[in-house]
Amino acid sequence: MLLRKYAVLIMSAMMLATAAVSHAEDDDDEDDVVSKVPAQAQICAGCHGPDGNSMVPMFPKIAGQHAAYLEKQLKNIKANVRMSPVMMGIVAPLSDEDMAVVAEHYAKQAPRSTPSVSNGPGSVGEKIFKTGIPGAGVPACASCHGANGEGIAPGFPRLAGQHANYTTSQVKAFRDGQRKNDAAKMMRMVSAKMTDADIAAVADYIQGLK
Ligand code: HEC
Ligand code: HEC
Repeated sequence: MLLRKYAVLIMSAMMLATAAVSHAEDDDDEDDVVSKVPAQAQICAGCHGPDGNSMVPMFPKIAGQHAAYLEKQLKNIKANVRMSPVMMGIVAPLSDEDMAVVAEHYAKQAPRSTPSVSNGPGSVGEKIFKTGIPGAGVPACASCHGANGEGIAPGFPRLAGQHANYTTSQVKAFRDGQRKNDAAKMMRMVSAKMTDADIAAVADYIQGLK
């Protein structure tokens, strides 16, 4: 079942990649981006977008993410310290140098955000991001991820503009103990007392951050 699901994902990724390349032929700017993609990163475009701004909510945007963080994730996934059945086979053939090259490439791309659905200024999502949930002992996301979610290299990733769907899945994965690659259990502790509604609200706010 699972294997079938991933086979479908990879096939649709390849179709998207082909679409992206042919689209680029009639667009000079995009052609530039595509022609500068290092060979090791050609396959990534299908899911993460030619410039790392994935258009599919379940695939994270990786454009403008700090290179050190991207590299850490790739190494963690390759070593199965962070479980990702989708990415596992893709990173397996990459050397340390390849991972550094692709991380540098995506870190240099300009990130694009997606408007929040209902958590703009003055929302619950903004409150959680900026001040946390004091009653539940949840710290402000901004304290580690930066006032605008820009991240603090090398350890604290950029969150701004990320698809709410992906942010939600990761915060829940930390909370439920499925993702355990956070130094000093930082995210596992932050998320422990968050409800699904808290997570959805803050993820929606983060999506709109630039
Ligand atoms: C078939 C789709 C697919 C392809 C192709 C793919 N990825 Fe991914 N990638 C994902 C998914 C899905 C995740 C989220 C983790 C998960 O749910 O398994 C992810 C996660 C990541 C992450 C972690 C992002 C974060 O914010 O923590 C990085 C970095 C990454 N991919 C880089 C790459 C690179 C580099 C390539 C090409 C060498 C690549 N990916 C190819 C689907 C894909
Ligand atoms: C005490 C510091 C700290 C606080 C506070 C914090 N985080 Fe994090 N967060 C981290 C660290 C460190 C990582 C990187 C984990 C790793 O290395 O894989 C991270 C990673 C993440 C990720 C994964 C990013 C990705 O691209 O996969 C998400 C999503 C996230 N945090 C959301 C939040 C939200 C939402 C809040 C507020 C409710 C928050 N964080 C508060 C330290 C923190």
